[in-house]
Amino acid sequence: MKIAIDGPAGSGKSTVAKGISKALSIPYLDTGSVYRAFGYIAREKGINLVETQELLSLFEDPLLVKIGIAITEVFYKDKKLERELKGEEVGKYASLVGSVPAFRERMIIFFRNIVGDAQVVAEGRDVGTHIFPDAPIKLFITASPEERAKRRFLELTAVGVKTTYQEVLSALLERDKRDMERPLYPFRPAEDAIILDTTHMSAEEVIEQILSIIKEKAPHL
Ligand code: DC
Repeated sequence: MKIAIDGPAGSGKSTVAKGISKALSIPYLDTGSVYRAFGYIAREKGINLVETQELLSLFEDPLLVKIGIAITEVFYKDKKLERELKGEEVGKYASLVGSVPAFRERMIIFFRNIVGDAQVVAEGRDVGTHIFPDAPIKLFITASPEERAKRRFLELTAVGVKTTYQEVLSALLERDKRDMERPLYPFRPAEDAIILDTTHMSAEEVIEQILSIIKEKAPHL
């Protein structure tokens, strides 16, 4: 059983997807951190982001992704990437590499290979539309831009990233726009996704609601 949870930056999809992973004991794949890892490496290597061939050469690097209950770990050259993947700057690079269609196509295959036939709670921008289009359960989680910026700001400051609410809000709006307006693979909900607006909901409430949707659609889980 594959569960696809998509949504924009700061929608709370990571918290929610981790909660579902824990509740159902199904591994969790955070596709955003893999995009972030590639964005980070591209920046470190000074790769020209409009040079598709240069970008695709990133797949020759040994990037290892391990998934487990409520955890996705990314290793590059035996080093675990953690703090390097936080913050709006690396998020911007992730969004930029993700706007190259040939790169996205390779990412889709990369993610399918990580998961194979296993069960997964996968979270991102295009899980329900492109990575696992046959997932029987698809959710699209969103919230107002101001609420999302507030959540993201609190999350970043909690891990020691220095930023301001205004900075987070404008980076998030810019990223939303780029993710939604790319001509190929634009970010949008899958046609068969259930849309949840979480602006006035706590993470616990969203998790409860999703668990009851899953129970209804897949009572055996
Ligand atoms: O979910 P996030 O904020 O960690 O994602 C960072 C960026 O990575 C996002 O702005 C666009 C890109 N991304 C993507 O294009 N497709 C995904 N499935 C996940 C992330």
